[in-house]
Amino acid sequence: MSSPDPLAERLARVVGPAHVLLDSDLRASYETDWTRRYHGNSRFVVRPADTAEVAEVMRLCAEAGAPVVPQGGNTGLVGGGVPRGGEVVVSLQRLTSLEPVDSTAGEVTVGAGVTLAQLQEHVLAAGFGFGVDIASRDSATIGGMIATNAGGIRVLRHGPMRAQLVGIEAVRAGGTVIRRLPGLTKDNTGYDLPGLLAGSEGTLALVTRARLRLIPLLAARATALLAFDSVAGALAVLARVRAIPSLEAVEIFFREGVELVARHAGLPLPFAKAYPTYLLVECTARNDPMPDLAAALDGAKFLDSALTSGRQQRDALWAYRERHTESINAEGIPHKLDVALPLARLEEFAGNVRGRLAASVPEARPILFGHVADGNLHVNVLGLEPDDDRATDVILRYVAELGGSISAEHGVGIAKTRWLHLTRSPEDIATMRALKQALDPAGILNPGVIFG
Ligand code: MLT
Ligand code: ZN
Repeated sequence: MSSPDPLAERLARVVGPAHVLLDSDLRASYETDWTRRYHGNSRFVVRPADTAEVAEVMRLCAEAGAPVVPQGGNTGLVGGGVPRGGEVVVSLQRLTSLEPVDSTAGEVTVGAGVTLAQLQEHVLAAGFGFGVDIASRDSATIGGMIATNAGGIRVLRHGPMRAQLVGIEAVRAGGTVIRRLPGLTKDNTGYDLPGLLAGSEGTLALVTRARLRLIPLLAARATALLAFDSVAGALAVLARVRAIPSLEAVEIFFREGVELVARHAGLPLPFAKAYPTYLLVECTARNDPMPDLAAALDGAKFLDSALTSGRQQRDALWAYRERHTESINAEGIPHKLDVALPLARLEEFAGNVRGRLAASVPEARPILFGHVADGNLHVNVLGLEPDDDRATDVILRYVAELGGSISAEHGVGIAKTRWLHLTRSPEDIATMRALKQALDPAGILNPGVIFG
């Protein structure tokens, strides 16, 4: 290592010179986000191997007054995991410990750098599943998923990452380690630190390990892809399936997205013709949940349908939903607006948002999809320069008008700081700032994220 950077030299003595990346080629993949919309230079990237090394890295960064951007699998979508200009990127990817599954408790303790797919495989071997699933499972890390309180396709049944957390280990700005991994389901002794850190987007502490609640492995699945001419029709079916005990996912997407996925993934359209609106419904149980799903759909109104209990056919149906993200990315650099609406206003929003956008930003090309049972729509906008915020402004103001949230699951990051006040009160924001000030008084943890 030939750098004269004294902090880099000190950190190299902690983590080993091979894990302080100064070379711009080596740093590049840590400096640009997955959408390519957000990028900036880091001072350097440091890759500690365990909690003790993270603590020492943070102690030395704090001593040097060096701002830090924590990073997991770099699958975030709001620019909160990449440097903005000269921060030290602390990659948690080497914290890959996988402790044995505690079958009695139905829990497991894992390192922040374990990917979701690795966790799923690990717990599967012990007969368990994990409550959160997202399409980026091969890259997204547990630490990053906690930091962003990731949601995904199973929230309606199991809740987001916060709901899976039984305990947490994290390193504070000055290097203090908070360790609450007691393996206690009940622990009402003061503030809920795991719950606080979930969704804090790396602004309060760096998550290093977590104790996670597991779910029974439910291997039998019934999946239905249904087509409608309107969102109202899809919502009528949501009302019919909502009470199925084995219901696990209800996803919505539209003609614009299906046609895009078909083109980019080289797939045929799911039905003989394209329809305006699609609903993907999935139930999981120990025994085939198809009779329950079929009974709920009996008499329901839809224009076309495909139902399956088979693994391969199921994957084929899910491809139309899960390949939205990559297909949109292949088309251009998207503006990703991840919003929540009260379900009572979702039809109105989905019906009007394209028109509102066309009226003020005609070159914007919206593609909608999302987790409809949670009132969560992903409004992706193509056709705009990365720093053109006009579409964001129109859409987030409309969301606020309808009583929604400007971020359902992706977080605020740096993408939405300007609009936070639309759906969080001044009292809320002041309280969050007070927490930030208490935990990170020097403001070195992920500066700019959430508050701007
Ligand atoms: C999804 O639901 O697929 C994820 O939130 C990713 C995305 O919004 O592109
Ligand atoms: Zn999502």
